[in-house]
Amino acid sequence: MRNVGELPERAEAVVIGGGVIGLAVARELARGGAEVVLIERGEAGAESSWAAAGMLAPQVEADRADEFFKLAAASRDAYPAFARELEEESGVDIELDRTGTLYLAFTEADEEECERRLLWQTRAGLRVERLTAVEVRALEPRVSARVRSALRFPLDGQVENRRLTSALAKACGRRGVRVITQTEVSTVKVEDGRAVGVETSRGMMRASSFVVACGAWSSMLRLDTAAAHEISATHGGDAQETRPRIEPVRGQMLCFAPAAAQSPLVRHVVYSPRGYLVPRRDGRLLAGTTTEHAGFDKSVTDTGREAITMQAREIAPAVDALVVSEAWAGLRPRGADDWPVLGALADVPNLFYATGHYRNGILLAPLTGALVAGMILRQGMTSPLLEAFTPERFRRASCAV
Ligand code: FAD
Ligand code: GLY
Repeated sequence: MRNVGELPERAEAVVIGGGVIGLAVARELARGGAEVVLIERGEAGAESSWAAAGMLAPQVEADRADEFFKLAAASRDAYPAFARELEEESGVDIELDRTGTLYLAFTEADEEECERRLLWQTRAGLRVERLTAVEVRALEPRVSARVRSALRFPLDGQVENRRLTSALAKACGRRGVRVITQTEVSTVKVEDGRAVGVETSRGMMRASSFVVACGAWSSMLRLDTAAAHEISATHGGDAQETRPRIEPVRGQMLCFAPAAAQSPLVRHVVYSPRGYLVPRRDGRLLAGTTTEHAGFDKSVTDTGREAITMQAREIAPAVDALVVSEAWAGLRPRGADDWPVLGALADVPNLFYATGHYRNGILLAPLTGALVAGMILRQGMTSPLLEAFTPERFRRASCAV
């Protein structure tokens, strides 16, 4: 999407970053009647949100029925309505698929892991089914004969995440959001405890509220020096240090081309504790992934390719007959405790964070958009679902040390 656009002098709300999260927040702000400008350094939806596998899989990815799981499951359950609305607004079908996900066990340790998962999820009243090896292969005949058992999560699924960002960008346009691309924000200017403007590569812009949705780059935005001084005086520390820190975690992916004249290798999203396969509607099969601390380097490496091939082969040895048509890597935005960072800074109550979605930004987009926009539109009034994700938790933790 090319939409460089004129940078206006001011707006009610500025959203910084045009990934799935910035787009989802901007759309909801505009739905609530705000005049919104979204500023994106490159093209919208071209970073982690483009690289993702699109799985909506809280029952696979969460480890307990905690606040994170509640947020993730609520966001998954919001997807059918979200997908419908987006299609009405944009004409784009995001290919929501609710076939369910399978979590396969190949070793004794995997079976113990499945047992633990079954236990906490059953106790939490969630829908989860235990499958024998025979039942797994009846559902997915090309899963490896070495499978010992599995869990099936009938409510989990996937979307085509590149179609999702395209739908969101179109919906933003329809709702009057001004999306300004090829424009980098360097600094948020703060005066008297309020954010007043952003310094960009194309000049300064002022607004009443600001949302940091810069994904893995969120910690690179500067608060201007005067603000840094004010905040450090209040908290006895360096303002740049007390802000939430987000780090990039690289994930590589392989994409297998559709096999001519063959049915898809699998119909469900299929996980093992080591990797996953995601069948797309157009016949492509995605295989992931790696979890690497490699700075901002988005290279695909030989080691990454080998690791993903091994993980995929363990799930379905028939991948050996497929051809890799594409490989890519993206940077997951990770906060210090793996949880998203959602809410305003206490010192700067009109500067909101919507970042740190790590492995689940696609899953969490509908609820992040609605809740963060709701907080801004209702002037700081927050939902109980958001309390655990406040950026202030890092400051509290550092004060407690
Ligand atoms: P991004 O999509 O990275 O967007 C941030 C945007 O901000 C970028 O467009 C960037 O250019 C812009 N930006 C940065 N700095 C500035 C600045 N200073 N000024 C202006 N613009 C700026 N999640 C799931 O839910 N399900 C999955 O199956 C899944 N699979 C994944 C697989 C892989 C391999 C990877 C890498 C990630 C996966 N994720 C998945 C995680 C998901 O991709 C992320 O959590 C999500 O995309 C984060 O969205 P975002 O908008 O915060 O970040
Ligand atoms: N949620 C899948 C991943 O981050 O790889």
